[in-house]
Amino acid sequence: MNAIEVRQLTKRFGAFTAVDHIDFDVKQGEIFGFLGANGAGKSTTIRMLCGLLTSTEGTARVGGFDINTDPHSVKQSIGYMSQKFSLYEDLTVEENIEFFGRVYGITDTALKERKEWVLGIANLHGRETSITGTLSGGWKQRLALGCAVMHRPRIVFLDEPTSGVDPVMRRKFWELINELSADGVTVLVTTHFLEEAEYCNDIILINAGKIIASGSPKELKQEHITHPILEVHCSDVVRAMELIETQPWAVETSVFGTSIHVNVADEQAGRSAVSALLAQNGIPLHGVERIAPSLEDVFIYLLEHGGGNK
Ligand SMILES: Nc1ncnc2c1ncn2[C@@H]1O[C@H](COP(=O)(O)OP(=O)(O)O)[C@@H](O)[C@H]1O
Ligand SMILES: [Mg+2]
Repeated sequence: MNAIEVRQLTKRFGAFTAVDHIDFDVKQGEIFGFLGANGAGKSTTIRMLCGLLTSTEGTARVGGFDINTDPHSVKQSIGYMSQKFSLYEDLTVEENIEFFGRVYGITDTALKERKEWVLGIANLHGRETSITGTLSGGWKQRLALGCAVMHRPRIVFLDEPTSGVDPVMRRKFWELINELSADGVTVLVTTHFLEEAEYCNDIILINAGKIIASGSPKELKQEHITHPILEVHCSDVVRAMELIETQPWAVETSVFGTSIHVNVADEQAGRSAVSALLAQNGIPLHGVERIAPSLEDVFIYLLEHGGGNK
């Protein structure tokens, strides 16, 4: 059985369609990445799946319960970490944990053990009486995750849990997500950090309310990136990019930091064409290497080509 099954799920706000007939399944115990730019419809979808917002059309089953006819059972089977910071800033660490424990109906005896557990995963032993608002972003998010899962839900929704968190703490946060998944918990997580998609078992990419790609990271790369990608290191990256992107042999061109990625039909011909073009224009070339596509390459390709095979 799938943990989550979404069928033609749609949300309109007045005349505006925020989520447009989306379909997907999330397998039990997997880490499922829900990717898309700001405004794509991620939070709206999650709020419907958590039974917090009614759908305009379509439905979904979460943990076997229908979100439209049984939102109460849905709410009881899930954990939800909202995009906005979900803890009370002016309460202490301990008070937040106790508050959420009561919301989830955890008994006093169990609460003692669960509190220790949350302090452990948040790594906040010794900080019980600190005011939550004084913790840095990464620590707050770990505490928020601990509070969201302290009642041991089998399905967890995390809405941009790593926004505003520095890269080191983001890695650590993903270790926590992996631990949950290893315990059999299904995790649906949204992010706009494309590199985080690599840590997911399956992904969907949503754009303007529609799913434009889905699959595992490997499948997405194989399906959508069929041309070799050359990484070009040269001086004057901006001018080089402008020159390369007008060439018929450059299928796709994008700037990645200080280098340029060029999708070409043929690796050898592509290498020669790049060297010749830059030499003609007096731009020093420092190196060209063929690279494996990243999910960022896939998403740039999909977004620039209007997405749209699904
Ligand atoms: N309550 C609402 N009323 C009107 N428009 C909304 C409401 N909630 C979200 N939207 C709009 O729906 C679109 C999708 O929003 P959202 O689901 O928050 O996107 P994401 O989480 O991917 O950034 C946005 O254009 C947003 O402005
Ligand atoms: Mg959002």
